[in-house]
This record gives sequence, structure tokens and C-alpha cells, in this order.
Amino acid sequence: MTMWVFGYGSLIWKAGFPHDHRLVGFIRDYRRVFFQGSTDHRGTPEFPGRTVTLESAPGEVCWGAAYRISKEEDKRIAIEHLEVREKQYDKKEYLDFFTDPTATEPALTGVMVYIASPDKKLNRNYLGPASIEDIAWQIIQAKGPSGPNRDYLFHLEKALVEIGHRDEHVMDLADEVRRLLLEEQLPNGEA
Ligand code: SIN
Repeated sequence: MTMWVFGYGSLIWKAGFPHDHRLVGFIRDYRRVFFQGSTDHRGTPEFPGRTVTLESAPGEVCWGAAYRISKEEDKRIAIEHLEVREKQYDKKEYLDFFTDPTATEPALTGVMVYIASPDKKLNRNYLGPASIEDIAWQIIQAKGPSGPNRDYLFHLEKALVEIGHRDEHVMDLADEVRRLLLEEQLPNGEA
């Protein structure tokens, strides 16, 4: 049986596993939020970074990319890869995936999605909401084995532009990180 995986974060720009098709599209009733703490990729246990997760948001949509994995051997490789990479995401959901905003019927059903839930008992790295400035400062300072947290944010911003989608939360955060970095470079923080 063919397997589909939906990516809404780093999986958009870097699948990292063999696949035979990629579709740009969206899932319904979720929004992308920088509420997940990362101690294994974009931060450390001493200074966690922030990565995206999905939050329930009836009526909203979240754009990303779905990958099809057909061969049995590729499925094994993909699952092995994802179970390590997404190990701080405590939930797997199987959702409808749409490619056409006017369609009532999904293009695909049962697409696997990794989610980091807000349940601190199941997901001890969950950080939750904070002001845009606080999140931006955390992202500026954090780095982990996969690289600086700010690169994750900027890659995501670029990947979303490349698939033709604007995400206000991601764009506002990227703008705030750039603003703070520029301010830091100016003497006495003068604008
Ligand atoms: C995803 O991309 O679907 C999950 C979040 C991440 O790994 O950045």
C-alpha cells in the first residue's frame, strides 16, 4: 500500500527519505505555530530552540507538501528516518489533504502527519505561545545539532514562498528576527 506523509516544517524543504512524488497542498482545521521546543535539532536541553507544530484551528488551513512513498523498501527507510527525526513529536495523525482550495473532496485521505501536542505529560518539550519578540529572541540565540534555529525559520519562510504560500505567523517571526539582528548591529541599538 502506498504511504503519504505531509510536511509543514522542515519536511517541506528537506524530505530526507526516498519518495516518488511530491504534491503541494494543505490540510484543513490546523494552523502552524512555533510552539514546540527543540532540544535535539535546533536547540539543546540547556537552551531549547523552537520548531513548528500544528494547533487545532477550525476553519483555517495549513499549507505544505505531501510525499508519496510506494516501494516497500522505501517505506521502511522513510519510517526509520522519520521516527528518529520527529521523535520529539508525540502524535501521528492521518488526515485529509487538499490541493485545490475550492474542492470539497480531498485529493488524498489518510496522509500521515507528525504533531507535537500541547500535553506536557506526553510532550515535555512543548513551550506554547509567547510574544513574537520573545519567540524571536529565543530563535536568535538557539542552535543545536541540526544548526542555528534562525536557519530553520528562514528556510521555512523561503520554502513557503517557493510553494506560493504566505504564512503570517512565519513571516512576522522572520521579520522580527531580522529587525532584532539589525538593531543589535547598530551602536546603542539606534535605528
Ligand atoms: C514537519 O515538517 O512536518 C514537522 C516539523 C519539522 O520537522 O520541522
